[in-house]
Amino acid sequence: MRRAPQAPRLDHHALERYERIWLGVAVVMTVLLFVGVLSSLISGTYPRLSGQGGGHSMAVTKGRVDPANLAATPFARPGLVVDAAGQPVVNAQGTLDAYIVAGNFTFQPAVLRLPAGRPVTLHVTATDVAHGFQITGTNVNVELLPGHVATLTVTFRRSGEQHVICNEYCGLGHHNMITRFLVEPPAPAAKE
Ligand code: CUA
Repeated sequence: MRRAPQAPRLDHHALERYERIWLGVAVVMTVLLFVGVLSSLISGTYPRLSGQGGGHSMAVTKGRVDPANLAATPFARPGLVVDAAGQPVVNAQGTLDAYIVAGNFTFQPAVLRLPAGRPVTLHVTATDVAHGFQITGTNVNVELLPGHVATLTVTFRRSGEQHVICNEYCGLGHHNMITRFLVEPPAPAAKE
């Protein structure tokens, strides 16, 4: 009867070498995990904050506002920033500005009208607790914290309705916390 061929036996020197290799792999993985967790904590904990209000938001300093005193900020009048004639105001960055306030299970304004095809900088903050701000069907999804201003610039290329929902549990009215953007086709150029 023939024996099945046996695998060569490893002496203890070879075993120790393999052990050291696997120990090295484990150490590298631990270091990568540590660095990854630390960097995501540092970079991803808070919504992206703009600098000195991006140069166009008075009373917004380093992306912070006093949530108890929004009356002194542009958040006092939520919505698209327009001039006396009702035309959207272009800021120094060449975008339009819109202010949105989340609190008490609502977003203000209830409906935000925006022109299609133009970059709009959204400034969003919360008054009471942490809320979410997600524009459905897009990758816009930020966390809102009282006192912090999340600033992001988006361009809606197509006209139509966009839904905005709160996706962080904020209390009993969380599931009703929804608003709409009405993206309107660009106005035809005025004839001279
Ligand atoms: Cu606001 Cu959930």
